[in-house]
Amino acid sequence: MKSLTENDIDQMTERVLSSRKYSAMDLPPETVRDLIRQEIAAGKPPKEVEKSMREKLHQIIAPYLGDPDYPLKEERLAAAAAEGEDAVRDWCLRMLSVHTSSRERIPHMTEFYQAIFERIGVPESVLDVACAFNPFAFPWMGLPKTTAYHAYDLHRPRVHLINSFFKVYGMKPLAETKDILLNPPEAIADTAFFFKEAHRFESRRKGCNRNFWISLPVKTIVVTLPAENLTGQHQMRDRQRNLIEKNIDGLGWTYEETEIAGEMIFIIDKSSKFKVQM
Ligand SMILES: C[S@@+](CC[C@H](N)C(=O)[O-])C[C@H]1O[C@@H](n2cnc3c(N)ncnc32)[C@H](O)[C@@H]1O
Repeated sequence: MKSLTENDIDQMTERVLSSRKYSAMDLPPETVRDLIRQEIAAGKPPKEVEKSMREKLHQIIAPYLGDPDYPLKEERLAAAAAEGEDAVRDWCLRMLSVHTSSRERIPHMTEFYQAIFERIGVPESVLDVACAFNPFAFPWMGLPKTTAYHAYDLHRPRVHLINSFFKVYGMKPLAETKDILLNPPEAIADTAFFFKEAHRFESRRKGCNRNFWISLPVKTIVVTLPAENLTGQHQMRDRQRNLIEKNIDGLGWTYEETEIAGEMIFIIDKSSKFKVQM
């Protein structure tokens, strides 16, 4: 069977990026190319590469977790900004409720961040990697608006909306569209938030969390994982703990674990390694 050429890969990438499902997201082409190459390397027959790549992309973007009408949300944010800070906070709550990951956290947001900051201290800079809507929880984090809050996601309208919010809220617009697995953040920060995504990273590429975590220029990484699956039928605590332990095995890092309302929180301390790398 004829193997796929570079031209075939380019055409497939273009087909996916311009499809009705993905065109408005303006995803980084390198993400799609990387997924195609991975399927080819795994020995998928050329005819099946596009189908399995699309399945992987669907899991990475996870549109089923919630995706709003972005131009409309931009308009509503501008209207809220004209009303004042309380209206902006209400807008944030509505945004957090759009996406399953952040919606589940709303009732415990303050407690969630307190639990983290009492262990790592109050950070002056944060990398929120694969952030989705979590930056809209900033008003409940108890951090000053001077915090350098770097947020990263693949989804360009999402990132644009986050920067619009940062500006309205009096913060620096530090959100970036980036595939963090292929191009890890370079900004040095006190801590990284990697919430409810590490298990998806493992599905994208088994074991990739390890090098990703090594590459993050931070002292601590706060990884959270769901204790149950989306339907609540399967307990996943042992599997999630195993994911953390496997990915830090032999690195000399330590971790502390806590849990709030079904969200397992692993606080990984890589500070000694960080000092060596400097
Ligand atoms: C499950 S949500 C993350 C939820 C969020 N961290 C939270 O807990 O509220 C997945 C998000 O990660 C983004 N994402 C997935 N892979 C990514 C990558 N390699 N680089 C940047 N963003 C990524 C997706 O676009 C999506 O917005």
